[in-house]
Amino acid sequence: MPMQIETTRAGARNALAHYRATGQRIALIPTMGNLHAGHLSLVEYGRQHAERVLVSIFVNPLQFAPNEDFDRYPRTLEADCALLAELGTDLVFAPSTEELYPYGRDHTTQVQVPVLSDLLCGAARPGHFNGVSSLVARLFNLIQPDLAVFGKKDYQQWRLLERMTQELLMPIEIIGLPTHRDSDGLAMSSRNAYLTPAERQTAPQLYKSLQHMQQQVLAGERDFAALTEQCMNQLTQQGWRPDYIEIRRKVDLTPAQANDLTIDLVILAVAWLGKTRLIDNLEL
Ligand code: PAF
Repeated sequence: MPMQIETTRAGARNALAHYRATGQRIALIPTMGNLHAGHLSLVEYGRQHAERVLVSIFVNPLQFAPNEDFDRYPRTLEADCALLAELGTDLVFAPSTEELYPYGRDHTTQVQVPVLSDLLCGAARPGHFNGVSSLVARLFNLIQPDLAVFGKKDYQQWRLLERMTQELLMPIEIIGLPTHRDSDGLAMSSRNAYLTPAERQTAPQLYKSLQHMQQQVLAGERDFAALTEQCMNQLTQQGWRPDYIEIRRKVDLTPAQANDLTIDLVILAVAWLGKTRLIDNLEL
């Protein structure tokens, strides 16, 4: 079967009705397009765990603040569809903004996950996670997948969507898959395309810093505040502008305590290199 591309809610519903009527499991991979190997591994997982794989491609205006990169975010629908067809994707859903938000940005119903949407990245990007959860809730209601696959690079997003799904009683399994990295350790991200060649050389330092912190925690260091401050200072000296580097509990992203088990913790980081905001994390 050739891959189907639908741009309307009705079109997607029709295509899905047949799968559902015949009892086929549906995997959804929500994306903003500009697909890289990280996304493709999510699609691959969907292929292996469901009969039908649907990928949504939508640069969601609701999750960008007015001063952010919505306009320059890379849009590469044709190339994305070619990659997805090769992987055996069944359906691409690529709606317009009007199709998903018919009442306009300011009059649209939003879904908010409290606390998890306000800390870490949520503190620096107010409204961002409400935009994400509002979109993903719509996609879940429209598509009603059996499972949805996300990358753990956006660790907070994954945790927040897991919470939303659980609390809104959506019968959808939320899968988080490990971050894909370039051979030098840089986490794959569509925003890496913004880096200048010199910045691209520097970029793997972020992951190296996280690995260095990991070694120190594994060696018994429990003064997490000192550890993160040291790491922020070092990155700053190397020309970065860190937003935050934090050691948190994996389950709810509350601050790690000295007596927490190391295995329950994750190091999360956001730092700017020039005009590019890079995000990464490392589960301990
Ligand atoms: O991770 C992303 O690409 C986006 O935040 C998502 C989940 C597709 C929602 O727009």
